Amino acid sequence: MDIFVVEGGRRLEGSITVGGAKNAAVAIIPAAILSGDICRIENLPTISDVSVISQILVQLGAKVTQISDSVIEIDAREVNCTQVSQELARNMRASYYMLGALLGRFSRAKVPMPGGCYFGVRPIDQHLKGFEALGAKTGLRDGVISLTAPDGLKGARIQLDVVSVGATINLMLGAVRAEGLTIIERAAREPHIVDLANFLNSMGADVRGAGTETIKIRGVKEMHGTTYSIIPDQIEAGTYMIAAAATGGDVMIQNIIPKHMESISRKLVEMGAEVYEYDDAIRVTRSGPLRACNVLTMPHPGFPTDMQPQMAVLMSIAEGVSTITEGVWENRFQYVSELVKLGVDAEVQGRVATFRGVERLKGAHVKATDLRGGAAMVIAALISEGETTIREIYHIERGYEQLIDKLVAVGAAIHRRTVPNDYE
Ligand code: EPZ
Repeated sequence: MDIFVVEGGRRLEGSITVGGAKNAAVAIIPAAILSGDICRIENLPTISDVSVISQILVQLGAKVTQISDSVIEIDAREVNCTQVSQELARNMRASYYMLGALLGRFSRAKVPMPGGCYFGVRPIDQHLKGFEALGAKTGLRDGVISLTAPDGLKGARIQLDVVSVGATINLMLGAVRAEGLTIIERAAREPHIVDLANFLNSMGADVRGAGTETIKIRGVKEMHGTTYSIIPDQIEAGTYMIAAAATGGDVMIQNIIPKHMESISRKLVEMGAEVYEYDDAIRVTRSGPLRACNVLTMPHPGFPTDMQPQMAVLMSIAEGVSTITEGVWENRFQYVSELVKLGVDAEVQGRVATFRGVERLKGAHVKATDLRGGAAMVIAALISEGETTIREIYHIERGYEQLIDKLVAVGAAIHRRTVPNDYE
């Protein structure tokens, strides 16, 4: 297996360019099959989640051509299968976007229950409730979700009981080809919801209101091919902003939309970092001490849950007592016990984690418990004295492109090493 080896204690300085947004890419690639035509998608991140979702399209009969590292062309004319294989589906959460996309195009879909990071129960009741409102029959047998709408999908008013990114995306994918008007109320408002709506509209769909809590979709009979460039990754950008602040560095993070970063920038300033905004870049620097703060994670525009593990690292070396209250997931603090191995003083009670700032962290053997928990381990390793090794890095590589190259370019000492599987 491969591990990351980090020699901590170096200040990050220089510039990092952020890639395309993972959570937009994994929704937009499935959406491409709605047209039965050719779509060119640009600014894709080079991460394993993008390869897996592309392989799912290939398994269904689409032709996916890699034009360059960040550009693919999807030819969905020959898609002839509506059942996703078990093996591919369980590799990632977003495989369930094939439900909405296949239902929209073929009025039927079979997709095994998806994989993805474990944060306690991850129900899909809101997806199924919405598909049923659109006229689909839903079933679950041997771990495979099946949807059929023999009479086609019909627009409906759907009020989600919880704000769900996945359900909002899945219902958008189905509703764009349904007959008549669909209204999704209590919709998620994340930047990638807006990006998906823009992509669908560029294929001839009629989606309005994305980015607000009410999305209106007037179904269309036909959709066509398009060329579309994905937005920059808000969470990758935020992760490097925190790495800059944690190491007392000075980093210009390029190719971002500063508006998407507001909740993160505000917290960094509150904690004592300096944040300068430019048109499509943000500079983060810090020379003074870090101050404690409290964070409550919430759906967008609140503080993103996908940034809380990285924030925890800053809190662990800030003066005073900080807390994180997790407002989205039932159980997203598995990574805390790994941070403790590096000397972090933390305690978790239910949905609240408390961090008492310490002066220094010390290198140790840790593992990535999930994607963002893994990002937190990398940041913690960068500020720990001596060497840290990080196992189970496949979690990290699902969502961070060229992490080592990007960090080394700004002065980090991090490399990959292959070790025996029983390495401890
Ligand atoms: C997306 O997951 C992201 N994944 C997650 O990012 C992110 O943490 C999450 O949104 C919240 O922002 C992708 O986009 C691929 P939800 P998703 O449906 O869609 C409950 C990362 O690190 N819920 O918005 O699965 C659910 O239990 C990943 O990049 C229901 O009750 O999240 C949770 O408490 C990890 N019933 C809340 O809603 C449902 O049917 C939000 O979940 C669906 C969700």
